[in-house]
Amino acid sequence: MSEETRFMLLTGASRGIGHATVKLFQTHGWRILTVSRQPFSEECRWPSARESHIQADLADLSQIEALADEVRSRLPNGRLHALVNNAGISPKGPEKSRLGVLGTDAAIWSHVLNVNLVSTALLARALMPELKAARGSIVNVTSIAGSRVHPFAGVAYAASKAALAALTREMAHEFGRFGVRANAIAPGEIETSILSPGTDELVAAEVPMERLGEPREVAETIYFLCTEQSSYINGAEIHINGGQHV
Ligand SMILES: NC(=O)c1ccc[n+]([C@@H]2O[C@H](COP(=O)([O-])OP(=O)(O)OC[C@H]3O[C@@H](n4cnc5c(N)ncnc54)[C@H](OP(=O)(O)O)[C@@H]3O)[C@@H](O)[C@H]2O)c1
Repeated sequence: MSEETRFMLLTGASRGIGHATVKLFQTHGWRILTVSRQPFSEECRWPSARESHIQADLADLSQIEALADEVRSRLPNGRLHALVNNAGISPKGPEKSRLGVLGTDAAIWSHVLNVNLVSTALLARALMPELKAARGSIVNVTSIAGSRVHPFAGVAYAASKAALAALTREMAHEFGRFGVRANAIAPGEIETSILSPGTDELVAAEVPMERLGEPREVAETIYFLCTEQSSYINGAEIHINGGQHV
């Protein structure tokens, strides 16, 4: 009997960590659905990327139900095996400066919290029947900035990621009885376009491994958390940062 094809929904696949994760899951035979604001990204090409993409803005919470309906219509057996909440924004001030409390207005707070935090809860809520049916796995992408002050990440970003870590624990507690696991991965300095000038110096001073992480190294951990190899891991936050937090 052939094994059932597994489906993953990943938000923010256009580049960086999301793109690397899609590519890895594909090589393991998964079917992928992706979401981001762009209709389709030339930077993230893979077979069937265009047809697998759903355009939506996660900052607009009123779109989440319609997004979930679209996802549902593309799942042949009503089962979603993995939901990876990867989309994230980290707004900067003039000349890429750090946005502290004094530089962050209400509009920035709402935007960052909606994309990085609230949309993930609403998406999991809307897709719970499909996740339950698959005994699926949720992976939330947090950040090292959620647990310590970071020189480049702004205050709204840091607070959103700390809250996402708390939301992951809440999900693990609430969904465990359905066989749905929820975990987080907290990347440090990963080689993507989100990085700020000065990262090289920070890596040299603070990362024991003295190098940036690669998106593929993050993708491997996400894959682990979505497969049987991690079947009793629930509510964890795995740090992927070369030892930057020690
Ligand atoms: N790179 C790092 O070093 C690092 C470190 C710690 C944590 N992280 C976290 O890892 C995740 C991925 O980071 P990355 O560096 O790969 O980021 P990235 O290259 O900036 O990609 C962000 C993704 O999110 C999507 N996105 C942004 N706003 C969106 C919205 N309103 N609605 C839907 N999609 C949206 C973007 O696509 P569109 O532009 O098409 O919408 C893009 O695909 C983020 O959650 C980030 O906070 C990264």
